[in-house]
Amino acid sequence: MSLRVGLFDSGLGGLTVLRHVHRCHPHSPTLYLGDTARVPYGQRSADDIRRIAAEVVHWLRLQGIGVLVMACNTSNALAFDVAVAEAGVPVVGLIDSVAATLGTDRIGVLATPATAASGAYRRAIHACWPAAVVSEVGCPAFVPLIEAGDLNHPDLRAAAKDYLKPLLQSDVEAIVLGCTHYPLLTPLLQELLPDGVQLIDPALAAVARLGPLLANLGDLPEGERQHEQPPLPGSLRRICVTGCARSFARAATRWLGEEPQVEQVELSEQLDLTRQSACGF
Ligand code: DGL
Repeated sequence: MSLRVGLFDSGLGGLTVLRHVHRCHPHSPTLYLGDTARVPYGQRSADDIRRIAAEVVHWLRLQGIGVLVMACNTSNALAFDVAVAEAGVPVVGLIDSVAATLGTDRIGVLATPATAASGAYRRAIHACWPAAVVSEVGCPAFVPLIEAGDLNHPDLRAAAKDYLKPLLQSDVEAIVLGCTHYPLLTPLLQELLPDGVQLIDPALAAVARLGPLLANLGDLPEGERQHEQPPLPGSLRRICVTGCARSFARAATRWLGEEPQVEQVELSEQLDLTRQSACGF
């Protein structure tokens, strides 16, 4: 099986992008790498994030992907050039993809501290919409709490209230979920936001860019495959992690609707930067 679409993230977050890839391109085999040994990326230095991106993309390239989707905003913000140089295949970014679709005047962005500090969203949005007013908020508490798995944790609600405050003060019309972990917080965020503030998941814009790239690789458009048997759920998907496969498979179940098969893999220099990633089983 040739692994058409490669995706990576620090952990579970990129599965929110993978879901959209499966929905829009159910016949395209995917390879997902969750770098769980080094999650979270969002509190790391730019140098670390760039070094990790080079290593991860190199590994994905060796597996034989045809197109790379950066399912991690933090890597997209700080290491897009690294990914392009290393991938050897077309690279789809979340940030540019979504920026082109925003027409709103006052835009909020919730993101990891590294993404917010990089100003990548502000630059990308201004490149398309120079008059837009962009407010970026770094949200250090979100990823560790989401990876811990309790989306009803009171700390998550308290943090969300805190992070939304400056955006509400700026009277934003739309909020970009600038970290792929955050779409899982949509129900909580909607509850805390006034009616009329739109939540935007950049994955939709990024996945919309995949069709022509897959066609260039010779894949039949999905619209012309209606006569084909739909693939069995999970049959065209390979999911790998750098940390514990079993705990990732369990945590991923709620994101994918079924427990996936997960392999643990070792990347070349991973140990240099690895945090403790022992399995709790
Ligand atoms: N989900 C990733 C992102 O979109 C990384 C989050 C993290 O590891 O801090 O930025």
